[in-house]
Amino acid sequence: MNPISLSQFLIEEQRAKGQIDADLRRLIKVVASACKRISIAVSKGALGGVLGNLGTTNVQGEAQKKLDVLSNEILLQANEWGGHLAAIASEEMDDPHPIPHRYPKGEFLLVFDPLDGSSNIDVNVSVGTIFSVLRCPEGVKEPDEKAFLQPGTRQVAAGYAVYGPSTQLVLTLGDGVTVFTLDREQGVFILTERGVSIPEQTSEFAINMSNQRHWEAPVQRYIGELLAGKTGPRGRDFNMRWVASMVADVHRILTRGGVFMYPVDAKCAPKGGRLRLMYEANPMAMIVEQAGGAATDGRQRIMEVQPHTLHQRVPVILGSTEEVQRVTAYHLEQS
Ligand code: AHG
Ligand code: MN
Ligand code: MN
Repeated sequence: MNPISLSQFLIEEQRAKGQIDADLRRLIKVVASACKRISIAVSKGALGGVLGNLGTTNVQGEAQKKLDVLSNEILLQANEWGGHLAAIASEEMDDPHPIPHRYPKGEFLLVFDPLDGSSNIDVNVSVGTIFSVLRCPEGVKEPDEKAFLQPGTRQVAAGYAVYGPSTQLVLTLGDGVTVFTLDREQGVFILTERGVSIPEQTSEFAINMSNQRHWEAPVQRYIGELLAGKTGPRGRDFNMRWVASMVADVHRILTRGGVFMYPVDAKCAPKGGRLRLMYEANPMAMIVEQAGGAATDGRQRIMEVQPHTLHQRVPVILGSTEEVQRVTAYHLEQS
């Protein structure tokens, strides 16, 4: 069978389901080509002069890496002139970026984390890009922050690129999850897996254990039971992994199952959590749900959380359904 490129896949989807219009198709292609450029920049590593800090901080007070800012610029430049977007928002920009008046405007809003896991860049560990697509509310000509504050259930598409040993693009248009792998010689994303499905059960979990003393009781209980292994209440041993790039951790869960948690703890409670709702939690929640998994903030479905600010943070529990349900039940029992 001939390999299917991302462009061919999008045309097929449009024909078969009629659910994606030409603008959405263009948007996904542009984001994918920006990810290709980011992948090239990331892979140059120490030879590209792109490692290390830039000496600036973003709106959340985090030190910006050179590649955080470069990736943001690549995504902005690729997307602002194509006529498919009404506005763009990013982890690395305080406020939404309006489409310059000299360019045509479209009906979609694009939100992204240009480089996720950027603390891993300098140590040559997988990083990624996460994105979410919303529709601009009707009648809004100059979209501001408010236009973006829609729950994740309104996402029309979501995806991420993982820059690892290979570069992969994982995409959902609301009808399953498809994985594409970058053919570096040809510069084309090739479809390598359709209908990704996360196993319901798992014996693998991902959490930053160094925060254990800060966790709330339901998380202490759940992780305590996993750590007790065969002789504990779960009756089997569990394995742990923590890459500290959400993209890489979620990608592993999509590939072989597992549960990922960044719960609210005493340390991040004043901010509401560690991960950002609009460009980390929501797109990953949509992908995970579309692959048959679940995603909650410990109490409710992540995609039903009503955002109040663009850079809002949220606790995240996602992955294999049975485990997510169990941790969520422990939280609900307590409240
Ligand atoms: P970013 O690099 O975009 O700021 O995101 C990093 C996030 C996420 O990728 C990861 O799961 C988490 O931070 C790791 O946090 P800890 O360093 O606290 O483990
Ligand atoms: Mn991130
Ligand atoms: Mn980031």
